[in-house]
Amino acid sequence: MKEKLLQKFAEIFGDSEGAKVYFAPGRVNLIGEHTDYNGGHVFPCALTIGTYGVARQREDKKLRFYSMNFEQLGVLESGVEDLKPEKEAAWTNYPKGVIWAFGQKGFEVTRGMDLMLYGNIPNGSGLSSSASVEVLTGFILRDQYGFPVSNQDLALIGQFSENRFNGVNCGIMDQFSIAMGKKDNAIFLDTGTMEFEYAPIRLEGAKLVIACSNKKRGLGDSKYNERRSECETALAQLQEVVGIESLGDLTEEQFERYSSAVRDEVCRKRARHAVLENRRTVRAVEALKRNDIGLFGQLMNDSHVSLRDDYEVTGIELDTLVEEAWKVDGVIGSRMTGAGFGGCTVSIVKDEAIEAFQEKVGKAYLEKVGYTADFYVVQIGDGPAVL
Ligand code: GLA
Repeated sequence: MKEKLLQKFAEIFGDSEGAKVYFAPGRVNLIGEHTDYNGGHVFPCALTIGTYGVARQREDKKLRFYSMNFEQLGVLESGVEDLKPEKEAAWTNYPKGVIWAFGQKGFEVTRGMDLMLYGNIPNGSGLSSSASVEVLTGFILRDQYGFPVSNQDLALIGQFSENRFNGVNCGIMDQFSIAMGKKDNAIFLDTGTMEFEYAPIRLEGAKLVIACSNKKRGLGDSKYNERRSECETALAQLQEVVGIESLGDLTEEQFERYSSAVRDEVCRKRARHAVLENRRTVRAVEALKRNDIGLFGQLMNDSHVSLRDDYEVTGIELDTLVEEAWKVDGVIGSRMTGAGFGGCTVSIVKDEAIEAFQEKVGKAYLEKVGYTADFYVVQIGDGPAVL
């Protein structure tokens, strides 16, 4: 892979003298959805698929970008000095945003760079191809310019960039799980305190299978920001009756007691999801530590129901994938993953059932939705690296 990428870089940028090759993963969230901007817990892991980058500093101030995923666009140029927030969904706005964000944090990029990317995460699939590019860019900048930032800083800068440069109000989960990824482990992160621990995922006789709905989703034009503000409304009204800082501070019982303070029914449903999903995530990790994969799977299923009925971020594509998965013998748990409104589902499937799973779910999906779903048996990988 490394040789091929360097060769391509040489083709595009003249030669590959002094260029370095980097990688940052994509991520899948096992449970804890739409909790990261509500001060709750998440439980994601990095994948072995992700984004490769080849980079080399320039003597001048030019930035030259090339993506093997968008070859028809050719080399796209700009300068380190004329970066300003742009909401347009051009791929270069992700690396540009991170370069800009470093400057905002006091780490000014003064020299230009040639950067080529190649990603093997399906685009818009909900496996965080954008956060992968953000963390990769930050990792490259640190390596090339020697900025004194930790991997956790890379996650925060990536999120800052996506919020301020790209105008997407995302939480910290994606960038954190990518920057902090660890092979065969998921990350149990409390987004309220930013405390985290690694939890080994030992699925004896089973694997993680991702089903991609092929329904494209862009966070900017999705209802993501709307869900966030519904949660903020609910929190403000709850704060009139109970002293909390975030929805993640509430237990199930407390929510029952105080929920009538939320005047709008829709906002109340959104808050119920945020509170219950957070508690469910804590219980799921406890179950995993006891090696109770059965309960973990059940909690994944409950998570989906809550995202479908209370948070309303699923839709026919994700619901079909999950509801058909539940019917297959050997499926331990299945749910949508990521922001929703399209994208992927994640399932834990026993080895002997994987073939039947793909066949049955795939067939039912095609019949009901009218186009095909793609399936990936995935592995949990490490965070960003120099190759
Ligand atoms: C997107 C966001 C994350 C998180 C998830 C939903 O992936 O980028 O911050 O909010 O949606 O859990």
